Amino acid sequence: MENEKSKLGWKLSSIALGSVLMIGAMAVEVIAKDWGKHQVDNRRSGYTYMTDETRAVQDDDFENPGMLWVENGESLWSTAGANGKSCASCHADPDKDMKGVSVSYPRYDKKLGKIITLEQMVNRELVEKMGDKAEKFDSKKMLSLMTFIGTKSRDMPVNVKIDGDANPFFEKGKAFYYERRGQLDMSCANCHEDNPGNMIRANTLSEGQINGFPTYRLKWQKPGSVHRRFKGCNKQVRAKPYKAGSDEYSNLELYVKWRGRGLPGETPAVRN
Ligand code: HEC
Ligand code: HEC
Repeated sequence: MENEKSKLGWKLSSIALGSVLMIGAMAVEVIAKDWGKHQVDNRRSGYTYMTDETRAVQDDDFENPGMLWVENGESLWSTAGANGKSCASCHADPDKDMKGVSVSYPRYDKKLGKIITLEQMVNRELVEKMGDKAEKFDSKKMLSLMTFIGTKSRDMPVNVKIDGDANPFFEKGKAFYYERRGQLDMSCANCHEDNPGNMIRANTLSEGQINGFPTYRLKWQKPGSVHRRFKGCNKQVRAKPYKAGSDEYSNLELYVKWRGRGLPGETPAVRN
């Protein structure tokens, strides 16, 4: 009996040792993995937390379903609005005119006296320069224009301004990020700062970076905006989500974008 017990004990401890070694080996692999352009200092794009299959879809423009939205955005670029003007009337060379735009938003806007997201900037152009109506953040037209503009910042480093007039809004966004909320009483940081790489339900948690937005969600068969993602994450902790385009989310977007400073533009990134 005594003998049986110690045999079992030995078995258990060798299994335990085995798993420690496996975890050790995995940890070494994680440390040694060179993520190339997808990592800057200790910051890693969501790309690096995806499966090989999902990464392969993102890497190949012919397979990446987000590219159909980009193509739609390209044709919208030269589609005339109510006053006969199109984006192309004034921005004839989007490769040049929209270069670096997406990685530098959101910004402080003097006219509004607060933060403006790129969607809101596009709406300003639609309404004021073309006589069209404003679009919702996740409308087909907006997501098409956003993914198209986003491709003009591919591989350019995320670089938002957080000093001067932008600073008070940045601080508000930062406070939101660390505030616990919802029935689960969790902050963004509890998941995306404390637990990247760990599993939550069926998902591997990432750092919650936004350098690839709008990202194409395989689950939805369409792209989604940053603010839609924020809403989803607020709902996961059973907190009341804010509206897309709310000041709360625009400030939060500025903070989250800054967290990913230096990461490359990857629009349209592909996610589960
Ligand atoms: C009548 C001319 C005109 C039209 C039409 C127009 N734009 Fe603009 N756009 C401008 C000018 C001028 C600026 C820079 C000054 C300003 O903000 O008004 C600008 C600025 C922008 C910016 C900000 C760039 C930056 O560096 O911050 C974006 C983004 C933009 N336009 C996108 C669009 C899109 C998308 C469309 C079509 C839906 C469009 N524009 C239609 C003239 C136009
Ligand atoms: C309970 C855990 C949890 C909390 C709290 C949470 N998220 Fe998430 N978030 C997730 C999961 C799960 C995903 C999908 C997998 C991933 O990319 O991490 C996700 C994805 C994201 C993404 C997409 C990243 C990408 O590369 O596509 C962003 C951005 C994000 N979250 C931001 C936030 C922000 C901002 C907050 C706070 C308002 C927040 N999250 C709070 C669990 C959480």
